[in-house]
Amino acid sequence: MSGPPMSPERCRSPLPTCCGPPDPLSLCTQGMNVIPLLCTSQFDPSQFANPEAFDPGHFLDENGRFKHNDAFMAFSAGKRMCFGEGLAMMELFIFLTSILQHFQLKAEEDRATIDITPESSGLGNIPRPYRLSLIPR
Ligand code: HEM
Repeated sequence: MSGPPMSPERCRSPLPTCCGPPDPLSLCTQGMNVIPLLCTSQFDPSQFANPEAFDPGHFLDENGRFKHNDAFMAFSAGKRMCFGEGLAMMELFIFLTSILQHFQLKAEEDRATIDITPESSGLGNIPRPYRLSLIPR
């Protein structure tokens, strides 16, 4: 499951003072609760070449090195963003690299037919069940 797709914030903008082209922020009044959907940036085709697919290339430069993308906001953004991002990323790195160092991973069905769309989507994306063999190296 990806991170929580919502990130409640309290609007601090003053009331809009002038007329002009419609601006989404002008709908925001002081004290209003704003609930941005973080997943909208993660599915933004202007930021990710292939947003509907699992594509590690979204985070690699032309030399295959890690490339940060500001549109990846699983930990939210701003003053109330996740306090534990550094720890969580470190844990995920150690957890995944340990598995890959000690086991060979083998899907129990043809990889081409595996459906990675969520079984259901709401506050989070619920993944489908998969069968996977971990073969000691
Ligand atoms: C993959 C793991 C994690 C994800 C995807 C994640 C994601 C998030 C998100 C989206 C928020 C909401 C930020 C907002 O309101 O704008 C948040 C808040 C927070 N997270 Fe995490 N988190 C993760 C792991 C952790 C860990 C390991 C810790 C602590 C050890 C942690 C501590 C916190 C705290 C304290 C807040 C509240 C920050 C605040 O309201 O000021 N998180 N997290």
